[in-house]
Amino acid sequence: MTLPETTTTTAASTPADSGNDCGNDCGNDSGIGSAKDRVLRPHAEDAFAHELAALAAQDDRTRPARWKLSPWAVATYLLGGTLPDGTVITPKYVGPRRIVEVAVTTLATDRALLLLGVPGTAKTWVSEHLAAAVSGDSTLLVQGTAGTPEEAVRYGWNYAQLLAHGPSRDALVPSPVMRAMDRGMTARVEELTRIPADVQDTLITILSEKTLPIPELGEEVQAVGGFNLIATANDRDRGVNELSSALRRRFNTVVLPLPATPDAEVDIVSRRVDQIGRSLDLPAVPDGVDEIRRVVTVFRELRDGVTTDGRTKVKSPSGTLSTAEAISVVTGGLALAAHFGDGVLRSADVAAGLLGAVVRDPAADRVVWQEYLETVVRERDGWKDFYRACREVSA
Ligand SMILES: Nc1ncnc2c1ncn2[C@@H]1O[C@H](COP(=O)(O)OP(=O)(O)OP(=O)(O)O)[C@@H](O)[C@H]1O
Ligand SMILES: [Mg+2]
Repeated sequence: MTLPETTTTTAASTPADSGNDCGNDCGNDSGIGSAKDRVLRPHAEDAFAHELAALAAQDDRTRPARWKLSPWAVATYLLGGTLPDGTVITPKYVGPRRIVEVAVTTLATDRALLLLGVPGTAKTWVSEHLAAAVSGDSTLLVQGTAGTPEEAVRYGWNYAQLLAHGPSRDALVPSPVMRAMDRGMTARVEELTRIPADVQDTLITILSEKTLPIPELGEEVQAVGGFNLIATANDRDRGVNELSSALRRRFNTVVLPLPATPDAEVDIVSRRVDQIGRSLDLPAVPDGVDEIRRVVTVFRELRDGVTTDGRTKVKSPSGTLSTAEAISVVTGGLALAAHFGDGVLRSADVAAGLLGAVVRDPAADRVVWQEYLETVVRERDGWKDFYRACREVSA
């Protein structure tokens, strides 16, 4: 059966949840309107349309069926690089090259891809960019929740049509997964392990048989070449173990790690804050600004339970303190500096956000934070302003 062309999504599918951010040229090259009426968060394929077009034009390697780019070009899109004609491809993911290569290669096989990791390790971000580069469309998305119904994965019905004319193709509302199968594209399932087990099981037939039966019509939708699925799951959440072993076998699991070094994390935060800042018309942050390094240092030390020099043990707070949260703290600070300061990011601008990120549990985390401030931050050379600003908001 061939499904009618449609670009609408079902109620169960939502845009990616990784924040109101966009690529380098938000709303400029993407042809999506002037600064005032541009969308807040263009999809990856729109925000980076010029990079994808340049890659497609210069990519002479073999492309799997219906792929917009070769696996090599998809990896270059994610990791960044310079093309023979001088076009610069910005890095989207900062991390081990091998991880991206394995992820991309998996999509060219008959196994689906499961991106696993602690919160804020760019699972959603990578999934969106992979779908954009492979299929030119990152919107075939099912958002997993405890209430995700089977229709969100299979298909639903337009009840007015169904009552008027009975079951027919016109009355059928395909899920994003069904549309991806029909068109040979990449489907995305966010937070797979939050989806109830019986709904997860629906994916087993889809992934192993590559077909989706529609008993009401006596038909089926068979996946065509190019179809694959990227799922994300959070390993801090209740239950990746809830993924049945039958379903897990259908996936190649790629674990996205936390940034290996402080420099890598500072690089990620600086890049993303720069991109998000542009989309919000915030002032640019000069390279290597101290506050970003401080926020990243604080996050890493509290997360690791030890100071960077390895000398002092510190207690860890209850929150995750991920890179994603560091990005939010710095972006929030930048907005404060722009609207209530002189546009220069200072300690006082990041202190309040930092406190909010660290102190999730008002009692226990506050003690951890105070202890860290007094034993580590206070003694550190060149951190006096930062210490004072944190003391002020913590009082
Ligand atoms: N290694 C990295 N390279 C590039 N960006 C990163 C990296 N780690 C985190 N980020 C940034 O962190 C932000 C949040 O990432 P994202 O929402 O994809 O995390 P997630 O792993 O899906 O988290 P959650 O489990 O909470 O859904 C994104 O803006 C992303 O750019
Ligand atoms: Mg996510």
